[in-house]
Order: sequence, then structure tokens, then C-alpha cells
Amino acid sequence: MTAMTSTTRPLLNRRLAEFGTTIFAEMSALALRTGSINLGQGFPDTDGPEEVREAAVRALREGRGNQYPPGPGIPELRTAIAAHQERRYGLSYDPDTEVLVTAGATEAIAAALLALLEPGDEVIAFEPYYDSYAACIAMAGGTRVPVTLRPHVDEGGASFRLDLDELRAAVTDRTRLLLINTPHNPTGTVLTRAELAAIAELAVERDLLVVTDEVYEHLVFDDAEHLPLAGFPGMRERTVTIGSAGKSFSFTGWKVGWITAAPGLVAAARSAKQFLTYVSSGPFQYAVAEALALPDSYFTAFRADMLAKRDLLAAGLAEAGFGVFKPAGTYFITTDIRPLGERDGFAFCRALPERAGVVAIPNAVFYDHREAGAPFVRFAFCKQAEVLQEAVKRLKSLAG
Ligand SMILES: Cc1ncc(COP(=O)(O)O)c(C=O)c1O
Repeated sequence: MTAMTSTTRPLLNRRLAEFGTTIFAEMSALALRTGSINLGQGFPDTDGPEEVREAAVRALREGRGNQYPPGPGIPELRTAIAAHQERRYGLSYDPDTEVLVTAGATEAIAAALLALLEPGDEVIAFEPYYDSYAACIAMAGGTRVPVTLRPHVDEGGASFRLDLDELRAAVTDRTRLLLINTPHNPTGTVLTRAELAAIAELAVERDLLVVTDEVYEHLVFDDAEHLPLAGFPGMRERTVTIGSAGKSFSFTGWKVGWITAAPGLVAAARSAKQFLTYVSSGPFQYAVAEALALPDSYFTAFRADMLAKRDLLAAGLAEAGFGVFKPAGTYFITTDIRPLGERDGFAFCRALPERAGVVAIPNAVFYDHREAGAPFVRFAFCKQAEVLQEAVKRLKSLAG
């Protein structure tokens, strides 16, 4: 940095000041320095289907997508996304006007919020929330209004649940948009049909837009069922649905995501998107088009594999003395560290690499009300069974 650019004013602007450094960077550096197993970040340690990888290689070799692809995404992929929504959920979207390909779900979230919010608009999001929500709401000049998911125990076990009365009470005249995430990162909560119906009713009654992040749509376990919010009465016209090939096909580095929504919403998001990346992931778009057409057996096997990993890590964490919120979806497990005699997730996660050679993420980073998240810690289980077994072995040393 030269003297010419020095200034007494902070370089990072006010909107982003609170997002200067992320816990992920700190924890990943810690993992590297201590040789720890990194269960902090949510990416699989094995790649997705070989034929999908080969499809990307073919596209590269054949010169498909090596130059700027069309702004809304290649027609083959838009058609495949529409076909996927129709096949899985019976929702029909026009590939030309109601589908937008983005640089991962991350850009879809950013484009939707930057396009749909005016400064001062309030956005209701469940807390704990995926970290880009807060940053994107801030970049759009919006105000985030968190509604806290709270721990709850019933015959199904321990989970985090939405209080619908709290959600209703959070809506004001300034509320523009509900930002929903189901299956939910980091808690693993999957919203039920009744909860989604209530959210839909509220959105219609208060005339709210809805952005729904459904990137873990294919990772639901046991009796849980993923139901797209766009399929509920009155929602088709007001809902932006977001998906991700990174999450559904285990190619997180390809950064292929998408939006499905009514034409006006897609056009709005496209206006923002064209000045973010314009386009991305050319050859990978061709590969993802093929991935979306994989038979149901792929999705069944993917889910079964992650379910086995969930069960392995959940059992191991319980044996190691953690309180475990067995997730109904996603590839994350939120735990309670209080049974281990701990209270502060930040301190616990900072010490864990030295104590046990494992990295996890303190859920408090996903909260505005940090105290509500203080005793909770998130582990990712999208890792090979041997890695999870070794992590469990190491974590068991904590109890002793
Ligand atoms: C809830 C949620 N939304 C969006 C994303 C980002 O997805 P992508 O990698 O497609 O940008 C993630 C990644 O962890 C996520 O957990």
C-alpha cells in the first residue's frame, strides 16, 4: 500500500466492516498448523460421479463453454434445471424466462438480494444463518431481522425448531422479504409441511417476497421430506428458489448454482448477476446439465452414503460426550458442548485442534444474538468414513 492511498478512514466500508475476517479462514489455518482433521468447512473430500467429471472434460476438449456462455446460462442447463424441478416436485418453469444459472448458490443469493432490496428494507432470516446472508443483506443496504431457531426436544429427539408466532411478530411494514433455508445449515432442521404452509400463508397475507435456499434439497434423512416452498399456494409468483450443483453433485469447486422463479423475479436477479460475474463455469454447465438428468438411483445412493456418515459421526459425537442434534437434512451436525462442561463455543473451537486434533465451527458466528448460539458447535460429515472414524477416535479423548 502506498502513501497515496493511506487515509484515516477505514478502507473497508461501513456495510462490510463487521464481515472483515471469517472464522473459516482462522479455523482452516489452525487445522493446517496443527495437522487437524478439518470438519469445519462443508465440502466433500471425494468428488462426485465419474461420468459427470468426464462430461466436463468432454466439454472442455470439444470447446463447449470455453468462451463466455450465454448470460442466463446455456440452454441445455436451463432446460435440465426446469426438467429437474418438474420431475422431482411437479413444478414447471420455462427454461427461457424462469431459470437463471449463477456462480454457485452464493451468487444466486447475492443477485437476488441486490436486485430485490431497497436500502432500509427489512429481511427476515432464521438465525443461525448461512454467513453470506448477512453480508449480502448488508451489501444491498437492507436490515436483517433474525428469527431464532430454538433447541427443542420431543419424541423425535433434539432439534432446532422455528417458532411461527415469533416469525409472524417479526414482520413489520418495512419487511420486504423472507429469506428461508431448508434443509437448514447449520442446524440440519428440515421445515415440515405445516411450517412451510404457515410461512406461505404469512408471505401471501403480508405480500412478501421469498428467497428460499434449498441447496441441500437432496440431503434429507429418515422421515424428513424436502418440499419446495414454491409449491405452496400463492408462492409460485413470489418465490425465488435457489439450488446448487456443488451440494447436489459434490463438485463445490465448479460453482454452478441456479435460480428458478417467475419471469419478473428472474429478470431482476439477472440484472444484478450480469454485473457480478456476468457468466461463469462454461464447460461445467454442460456437465451439470448431464448430472441433473442422472437417474433416481444416483440421488438415492448419494443420500444413503451421507446418511451412513451422519450416523457414524452422530454416534461418535454422542459417545465423546457431546449433546447431538441429529440432523434431518444437510451434511452438518450441530452439537451442544455443555455436557462436556464447556459453555463457550468460540473458546472450545479455538482449543479443539490442540486438545483433540479436530477442527469444528462455533455456531455463534451464525447468530446476531451470539449468546443464543454460544454453546453450540458444528461438525461437517461430508468426509470419508475413515476420516470420520479417526475424528471420532480423537474426540473421545476429550471425555477422558
Ligand atoms: C445454506 C447454503 N447456501 C449456499 C451455499 C453456497 O453454495 P455454493 O457453493 O453453490 O455457492 C452453502 C454452502 O455451504 C450453504 O450451506
